[in-house]
Amino acid sequence: MNSEAFAANPSRALGSAALAWLETRFRGAAPRSLSALSGHPGRSRDKILYGSLSAAEGRPLQSRRAPVPEAPFYREFPFPAYPNGWFAVGYGDEVAPSEVRRIHYFGRDLVLWRSEAGRAMVFDAHCPHLGAHLGHGGCVVGESLRCPFHHWRFGADGVCLEIPYAKRIPPRARVRSWPVCERNGLVFLWHDAEGRSPEREIPAVEEYGAPGWQDARRQGWKVRSRMYDMGENPVDAQHFRFLHGGIAPSFAQEKDEHGATRNVSNLDMPTPKGAIRGSIISEHAGPGFGWVHVRGVLHTLIVMANTPIDDQNVEVRFNYLQPLTEDAKKKRVGEKMVAELVRQMEQDIVIFENKKYLTDPCLVPEDGPIAEYRRKARRDYTGQFFGED
Ligand code: FES
Ligand SMILES: [Fe+2]
Repeated sequence: MNSEAFAANPSRALGSAALAWLETRFRGAAPRSLSALSGHPGRSRDKILYGSLSAAEGRPLQSRRAPVPEAPFYREFPFPAYPNGWFAVGYGDEVAPSEVRRIHYFGRDLVLWRSEAGRAMVFDAHCPHLGAHLGHGGCVVGESLRCPFHHWRFGADGVCLEIPYAKRIPPRARVRSWPVCERNGLVFLWHDAEGRSPEREIPAVEEYGAPGWQDARRQGWKVRSRMYDMGENPVDAQHFRFLHGGIAPSFAQEKDEHGATRNVSNLDMPTPKGAIRGSIISEHAGPGFGWVHVRGVLHTLIVMANTPIDDQNVEVRFNYLQPLTEDAKKKRVGEKMVAELVRQMEQDIVIFENKKYLTDPCLVPEDGPIAEYRRKARRDYTGQFFGED
């Protein structure tokens, strides 16, 4: 390991082939950074909790493509705005027991709230009675959420438990409760365009919160782009060389023990004192969550979550983790490595916020498996309108 050499020049030492996997499918811009790089308190292994699925079943959440926005390029984007899968809607430590937060994803107003017992839940924001916003004065009562307007009270499955002034509760008195999973420090909701139940769980990232690993350093961005479009970037081999100034990686794919696709790249990382043999291994659990191990110079793990805010914007959350060390040089190397990863992300965002999606791009074989990515990405989307590559 040549951490000293890396500290002198992290960009060259790591090499853009390594960084290829690091940037993954999430992009951002510094001016709109949601949070500075910072440590935060450690946490125990997260709980997995599910809200009732019943409210979501049988009802399309987004069965039609969202209205076309004004941006001209967008009219030519041939995919539904929102893919299916688990999507982070906040960090678990951002919502305390008995707290209600207003959030906005998938073009919808939602509330993220935590019961007195600690269960995180996501409801549609507006009360089915007369439409009050549950995030403006809504109150957690035990395991239920009470509307501020007339004090109707809704349980974890969204069903109304109490109308304090009525003799009976109408069957329609329910608010949509989204399937929720809290894991890896994040609260996820399950989105399915046809309202189907979750088909898989969010995997636990082994190193997250484990002894011997730092607390995650967080970085967040809002990106004016589409999830599908950003997801194409990691397989765009040549841009690593020409946009980021490194080398184009080669790709290999394998299945992990859970059947998830694992992208593997073994490579020599150039450093001022010679090449270091390294590897980059990335895995994705659907379009909204993934993680990447980079080994060679300094083991770094990036846990990544992105979520559509609406059909033109994506919220990106990155967590950077490295092994605990008392070595000052290694700490410096680690910090520079993260800074370099952030720099490359911000190069990408300029491209993504201004590029146009081409349904029939002019590709050459050396571009990387872009067409293959497009074919596979369709599985994460449902809807009526799919373009051809
Ligand atoms: S609007 Fe919520 S109780 Fe009336
Ligand atoms: Fe990139």
